[in-house]
Amino acid sequence: MDFTISPNEERHFASLHAVLDVVAREQRYLAFVQAPPFEQSLVFYRNIIARDLCQFVALEADELVGWCDILPVMGESRAHIGTLGIGLLPRVRGKGLGRKLLDTTIAKAWHKGLTRIELSVRVDNPVAIALYERIGFQHEGTRRNASLIAGRYCDTYAMALLNPA
Ligand SMILES: CC(C)(COP(=O)(O)OP(=O)(O)OC[C@H]1O[C@@H](n2cnc3c(N)ncnc32)[C@H](O)[C@@H]1OP(=O)(O)O)[C@@H](O)C(=O)NCCC(=O)NCCS
Repeated sequence: MDFTISPNEERHFASLHAVLDVVAREQRYLAFVQAPPFEQSLVFYRNIIARDLCQFVALEADELVGWCDILPVMGESRAHIGTLGIGLLPRVRGKGLGRKLLDTTIAKAWHKGLTRIELSVRVDNPVAIALYERIGFQHEGTRRNASLIAGRYCDTYAMALLNPA
């Protein structure tokens, strides 16, 4: 099956929220353990679209199966930075779709003038770490006990990519 990568739009909001909820409930990858309330996500998605920020979804036929975003952080001195988030439904992982989504979203981030992309990834997520390394993200340190889910601490790696241009 071929996948399509598209900017997020209003008709995808409910399915994006549902996919986020699936990945969050795995309790292994994201900061969330479930999706935020839908009304809150609606405001969040609409703000992204209104500001033409970097958020793409992956579609298999018409079904939304993943997302990637690179979103602003607070503070004038950090206006050149975006924070990366990504997630795919379990059944579409390991087929190169993550790479495709990342390439598209990173290209837009550079096009919008960002020069640094940051992320946090749990040390027990080798697939994501390998993918980020392959794209050129560098390790910048370990955040100890940075994740606490169901009573279990996990370290995370801080990684970042600078615009090669
Ligand atoms: C992380 C994620 C987005 C990656 O997307 P994906 O489509 O599964 O990844 P891809 O198929 O593009 O590439 C994965 C790479 O990791 C490699 N890989 C797979 N299993 C691996 C393992 N156990 N150890 C190391 N590398 C591994 C693959 O070989 C592939 O490398 P290649 O391109 O050289 O073949 C996806 O797996 C996902 O949604 N995971 C759950 C959510 C998540 O972890 N989000 C990130 C939080 S920081």
